[in-house]
Amino acid sequence: MSLAAIVNRILLPTGIQLRKANSDQGFWSSDKEFMTLYKEIAPYTLVGLHKSFMLYQCARFAAQHLVGDVAQLGVYKGGSAKMIAECFKETDRKVYLFDTFEGLPGDGEGEAGMFNDVQFAEVETRLSPYKNVEFRKGFFPDTAQGLEGRKFSFVYLDGDMYESEKDGLNFFYPRLVPGGIIMLDDYESPKWVGVKRAVDEFTNETGVAAIHTAYWQCAIIKPPLG
Ligand SMILES: C[S@@+](CC[C@H](N)C(=O)[O-])C[C@H]1O[C@@H](n2cnc3c(N)ncnc32)[C@H](O)[C@@H]1O
Repeated sequence: MSLAAIVNRILLPTGIQLRKANSDQGFWSSDKEFMTLYKEIAPYTLVGLHKSFMLYQCARFAAQHLVGDVAQLGVYKGGSAKMIAECFKETDRKVYLFDTFEGLPGDGEGEAGMFNDVQFAEVETRLSPYKNVEFRKGFFPDTAQGLEGRKFSFVYLDGDMYESEKDGLNFFYPRLVPGGIIMLDDYESPKWVGVKRAVDEFTNETGVAAIHTAYWQCAIIKPPLG
């Protein structure tokens, strides 16, 4: 038995565990499909390993058990979008991808134009194997026009800024099917504090609960009878 294993055995009742820094040896590493996909998308996403695994699990759940379209706000280079599209490729659901593809719209909170180091054509190519993907290029929520009648099963909001996330919640939650999931990135990020403000305001206004994950994301699940 290694020294780390002996120390971990002693520490077991405390809940503290020794783990190599940046180790990817969590339970996700035994999910071969996920790990293969993650390695493929990692160069094109800011969503790290742990958050990607949460995203993957929720998207897979929605793909297997729910009916309704899919959306992502905040696509950037398309890595996490590819992970989502992969989960829904065997379905007939539309996957709507919203982004300016010219960086953050400025509202005084984010740095306007941040994340503009992206070529839209490259993102299109990256997502081209998925025939059910539809790009909505431009400023959200303007780009949601025409989707008012759609129902959604899974939505990933990664727009960083208060306005974008609040607009996303206001648009998608009423259109979420019972059991449907809206995941948000950066909920507890010390940089993108507007995300928490948007979620907390939304949950206070609506009485809907948000589940906080260990890696700064949170998820809002529409109650099955809500
Ligand atoms: C952090 S990046 C997204 C990262 C991406 N999910 C990934 O996998 O790397 C945030 C993106 O949100 C987009 N964005 C934020 N607010 C937006 C809005 N209101 N309309 C369109 N795009 C927006 C920005 O253009 C930027 O590309």
